[in-house]
Amino acid sequence: MASHSASHPQDPVQRALGGGWGTFLAAAARSPRDVGTLLPSGPELAQRLAAVVAGAGQAGRPAVVVEVGAGGGAVTAAIVREAGRDAVVIAVEKDPGLAERLRSRELGVRVVTADAATLPAILADHGVDRADVIVSVLPWSLFGPRQQREFLTIFAAALRSDGVFTAAAYSLGYWTPAARRFRCELERTFGEVLPTRTLWRHLPPAMTYVCRRPEVTDEDITADPNR
Ligand SMILES: C[S@@+](CC[C@H](N)C(=O)[O-])C[C@H]1O[C@@H](n2cnc3c(N)ncnc32)[C@H](O)[C@@H]1O
Repeated sequence: MASHSASHPQDPVQRALGGGWGTFLAAAARSPRDVGTLLPSGPELAQRLAAVVAGAGQAGRPAVVVEVGAGGGAVTAAIVREAGRDAVVIAVEKDPGLAERLRSRELGVRVVTADAATLPAILADHGVDRADVIVSVLPWSLFGPRQQREFLTIFAAALRSDGVFTAAAYSLGYWTPAARRFRCELERTFGEVLPTRTLWRHLPPAMTYVCRRPEVTDEDITADPNR
């Protein structure tokens, strides 16, 4: 369902100046704790995140791929390239300016301007029960303990049991308390958590987690005020 025309500048300077960086910077200035960086994801990181999308879903039904914190679409375009033609791609972005920028790119995805915490309602609006893949570039290290756990509980509960959750993380902050807490929360929420190698040429250096086997308990879901 997607167009495949997005450009992917390799150079961080081009990455900054092209591709709607003004919109991204304005969003970062408005809500630094939500955006968490001055640069959108580069193509290598986008491709690494999107790689889990290939082969998602089962024969006979379109894959459902959700991106949370889609920004202006740096990762969305890579997801669209990896997803099958019939895949349903839902891109959730809280900042209205970035969501509008993403919409204007006409990538063939369903852009929803909303807080990712409302994911169950978003899926219901789109006639979807659970997602096959959830891709996140949310600023996890800026979230407090409660927020990290709430988001992960919501996302794990919104995933099919054979689904995949993937998240980007900046490697230079790997040993900070918030980043370590995030890893612990991932391990608490998923039966399998695989870190990938750092992309040192990415600005800033980044890696991803690939998580399978969501293990959300009824207690977690009941404690979640968004459900
Ligand atoms: C680090 S930026 C990543 C943007 C884009 N995905 C990329 O890789 O360049 C984080 C994005 O998450 C969005 N965001 C933060 N908290 C959010 C939330 N609760 N719900 C939806 N989007 C959120 C921010 O507005 C921002 O666009």
